[in-house]
Amino acid sequence: MYSSISLGYANKLDMPIPLTAPDIARLIAGAPSRFDLWLRLLRTNPPDSAAEIGVWKGDFAKVILSNFNNLTKYYMIDPWAHLPDWNKPFNVDDRSFEDVYAEALLKTEFAANRRIVLRGRTSAVIDEIPTSRSTSPTSMETIRLGG
Ligand SMILES: C[S@@+](CC[C@H](N)C(=O)[O-])C[C@H]1O[C@@H](n2cnc3c(N)ncnc32)[C@H](O)[C@@H]1O
Repeated sequence: MYSSISLGYANKLDMPIPLTAPDIARLIAGAPSRFDLWLRLLRTNPPDSAAEIGVWKGDFAKVILSNFNNLTKYYMIDPWAHLPDWNKPFNVDDRSFEDVYAEALLKTEFAANRRIVLRGRTSAVIDEIPTSRSTSPTSMETIRLGG
């Protein structure tokens, strides 16, 4: 697991990213960083809700939240805890993860009323996000775009 983002739109008929493969290739070629690439992609159809899976210190969340003021629900999903079955350099010890968690909260504090922090593995917390089948006006079309 690294990270990904899922997007939600109030109008379910909206295409999440209304771009062709050549359009996306052009965006990739012109983007100086992965953050910038996501900004360019999302600006083609700004979402009203999104879920970032794997948040770490909140750098990506901060960029997205500060660039999309109409993004009213941003789900930040991460256990912020050492995982025995995740063999990656980011899998630090629990004590270090507390600092990482605090940093993620601090970096997104400016958007505290728009972020929803779901601390746990994706599989454990994903049901806390309303689905498009629910009656919630903020339900999400969960379309994973990154990996
Ligand atoms: C590479 S970092 C994410 C970087 C972040 N998206 C960014 O762009 O700044 C990977 C994160 O995934 C989290 N993670 C690992 N397994 C996970 C799981 N099953 N569900 C959610 N998050 C997970 C880790 O705790 C870690 O914080």
